[in-house]
Amino acid sequence: MAVRELLSSPAGAGLATILALFLGLAFLVIARGRKRSDSPGKASTGPVIHVNTNGHVEQGQPLLSPPGQRGLILYGTQTGTAERFAKSLRSQLERRYGEGGWKFVAVDTENYLAPQQLAKEKFVLLLMATYGDGEPTDSAVDFYDWAVEKAESGDDASLLQDVNYGVFALGNRQYEHFCAVGQRLHGALADLGARPVIECGLGDDDVDIDADFDGWTVSLLEALDRSALLGAATDKEQDASAIDAFEVVAVETGSVNGSVNGSVNGSVAHPDDAFAAPVLAVKELHSAASDRSCVHVELDLTGSGISYEVGDHVAVRPRNSAAVVEAAAKALGYDVEQVVLFRASPAGEAPPFAGPVAVRDALATAADLLGPPSKAALATLAAFAGDDAQAARLRALASPEGKDEYHAYVIAAKRSLLEVLQEFTSSRPPLGAFFASVADRLQPRYYSISSSARADAARLSITCVVVEEWMPSGRLHRGVASHFLAALRPGLDRVPIAVRRSTFKPPAGAAAARVPIVMVGPGTGIAPFRGFLQERQAALDAGEGPLAPATLFFGCRREDTDFIYRDELEAAVLGGALSSLHVAFSRKAAAKDYVQHHLARQADAVWAALGPAGNGTLYVCGDAAGMARDVNAAICEIAARGLGTDRAGGEAWLREATASGRVHRDIW
Ligand SMILES: Cc1cc2nc3c(=O)[nH]c(=O)nc-3n(C[C@H](O)[C@H](O)[C@H](O)COP(=O)(O)OP(=O)(O)OC[C@H]3O[C@@H](n4cnc5c(N)ncnc54)[C@H](O)[C@@H]3O)c2cc1C
Ligand SMILES: Cc1cc2nc3c(=O)[nH]c(=O)nc-3n(C[C@H](O)[C@H](O)[C@H](O)COP(=O)(O)O)c2cc1C
Ligand SMILES: *[C@@H]1O[C@H](CO)[C@@H](O)[C@H](O)[C@H]1NC(C)=O
Ligand SMILES: *[C@@H]1O[C@H](CO)[C@@H](O)[C@H](O)[C@H]1NC(C)=O
Ligand SMILES: *[C@@H]1O[C@H](CO)[C@@H](O)[C@H](O)[C@H]1NC(C)=O
Ligand SMILES: *[C@@H]1O[C@H](CO)[C@@H](O)[C@H](O)[C@H]1NC(C)=O
Repeated sequence: MAVRELLSSPAGAGLATILALFLGLAFLVIARGRKRSDSPGKASTGPVIHVNTNGHVEQGQPLLSPPGQRGLILYGTQTGTAERFAKSLRSQLERRYGEGGWKFVAVDTENYLAPQQLAKEKFVLLLMATYGDGEPTDSAVDFYDWAVEKAESGDDASLLQDVNYGVFALGNRQYEHFCAVGQRLHGALADLGARPVIECGLGDDDVDIDADFDGWTVSLLEALDRSALLGAATDKEQDASAIDAFEVVAVETGSVNGSVNGSVNGSVAHPDDAFAAPVLAVKELHSAASDRSCVHVELDLTGSGISYEVGDHVAVRPRNSAAVVEAAAKALGYDVEQVVLFRASPAGEAPPFAGPVAVRDALATAADLLGPPSKAALATLAAFAGDDAQAARLRALASPEGKDEYHAYVIAAKRSLLEVLQEFTSSRPPLGAFFASVADRLQPRYYSISSSARADAARLSITCVVVEEWMPSGRLHRGVASHFLAALRPGLDRVPIAVRRSTFKPPAGAAAARVPIVMVGPGTGIAPFRGFLQERQAALDAGEGPLAPATLFFGCRREDTDFIYRDELEAAVLGGALSSLHVAFSRKAAAKDYVQHHLARQADAVWAALGPAGNGTLYVCGDAAGMARDVNAAICEIAARGLGTDRAGGEAWLREATASGRVHRDIW
């Protein structure tokens, strides 16, 4: 809670905590190109926490506790998972060790001055996600670089001798550098003399990262109890008065100024404002014979000041559907028409909206209603439950001992916060508590831009598959952002967006004529390659040809259902932007046919492009679930054959090609 107080002070500063994920990151370069100083429109980062020797922050606000009794939870996040874990951990630790005088704060690494502060801490937990090719999130670059360089310098082996620490690394085993950032920091802190209280936790987003985190948390609590580092554990039941809540003031309806939907003239110079892009077109890409839906959405960038390059990502701030908002308001007993003003909570958490907002818009834009409720959320709901049995059940689910129950009821069942609200009807937290201590913030969703600004700088397109999934809890989950996008009305609606740079770029300039490319993008993995092809066509039109060969491997279920952009791809082959197109239809025959099978069949051509004869570049894009791994394996086989060595030789080749920037992945 203390940190909320720290972050909330100067006007707008606390906004960073809420908007950083979405907007603060929007203009930074990821992965290799990640130099904050030279990125366009450096994001506002919010205030830096700097505690001086008498325990005061720079702005002169008192800290709730001196660093000596302060447990610091630092997180480095891009899509919110690490932040969610940090907040959940903070509330668990607060309940368990708060009575002994310890206070816990969860801070984004970008708001923490490690060089001045870290050595003074007694207890630090790091929750760090890995991106790119084993790189930190934009928000953690400074922290990471400082720690790693300090450790490598080797002359400060006792710098952090008073620090006890633990690291939970977030990652995905589909990537070569699995959890690299967390693991690297775990080692760096040890090299600087800090004492680990627990082994580095590894969270795999490909399987069940929540379960990994819960398992690590249990071990952490056991280790803390054994060491008595934070004193004896108490499991203080959370009573309603101790729960952090925003102050909420009802205001007149006329006072809403609309910023909730993004600024109409938002610009890259003000990353706090998403640009509310007008919708130009929404087209279904699947045929009527398909049982799924995939939409092509075109947005108008005119006057936005936003520029993008092929391969960049666009962040979309979605709204929960009207039905979901109504259901949540009903379960909570809120009046959706009421206009309210949120003010900082007593503990200082910055409010989700700067200005007045209708409850309907607040629930639609800021509350993750369909995601799984955190343990902290359940603990808060328990505190407000009027029915004792319901309160007891919620408390049990939220307790460390209830780990398996929580896993079964929330994680395995993929239960949503909304379902929990509908089941535990006796718990009706007030609006201020709901937004501060129950609902996670609704996160922006990222999409690989599927157009080329060179072809049309004022248009940006998204290729989005509409998520519809039966959950084990029995509900049909309608993906929040994909349904939001699919329901947009051209000419009427606007979408709050921001662009995030990526390093997923085709060879440009002279390299475009020299470097062959192999693109692998099944399903919506085609998105950035549509942009690549538009870019190549524009280069040909401008007389920059001939270009080096480009080969595309696409995959879908059936020719007559989801062969998206077929006409465009065939036209690209005829027009010369694409040299060859290979399409795998997974459900055409009894035997599954995927892109990796086509890669294997085209081994000679692929090796001609990627091997020493071509020194080309490989691009892989799409849904992670297995595809990237299978494609990797196919490429290793091809390399092994081409080099006349064994599988290990092929793997070594792929590692080297990846390290030298000749393999790029855009996987989600
Ligand atoms: C860098 C990047 C690029 C991307 N590019 C594209 C692209 O070009 N095209 C594209 O279509 N997508 C892309 N995505 C994916 C996209 O960002 C979204 O994740 C996708 O559209 C689904 O969002 P949604 O809000 O519709 O679904 P959500 O509502 O977020 O649901 C998505 C999934 O989350 C899980 N889930 C939801 N609720 C729960 C719950 N209560 N408990 C447990 N699990 C739950 C389910 O598995 C569900 O299927 C990209 C992602 C990234 C990170
Ligand atoms: C574009 C992209 C690149 C990623 N690169 C890696 C990687 O190199 N290594 C890894 O272990 N995980 C990687 N991941 C997985 C994330 O680290 C993982 O999903 C994590 O849970 C994200 O945490 P966050 O929500 O806090 O940002 C990547 C994810 C994306 C979307
Ligand atoms: C925001 O947009 C939604 C959906 O388009 C609309 O219903 C709502 O009234 C808007 N809110 C404001 C404050 O403009
Ligand atoms: C755009 O924003 C600027 C500065 O925030 C403001 O002065 C101006 O009136 C806005 N223009 C429109 C058309 O909203
Ligand atoms: C909306 O109103 C609030 C408070 O009145 C103000 O802080 C905010 O800047 C306004 N936003 C816009 C876009 O005018
Ligand atoms: C590819 O790179 C290798 C090693 O750098 C070099 O020997 C070879 O000539 C290059 N091939 C082409 C076609 O440029």
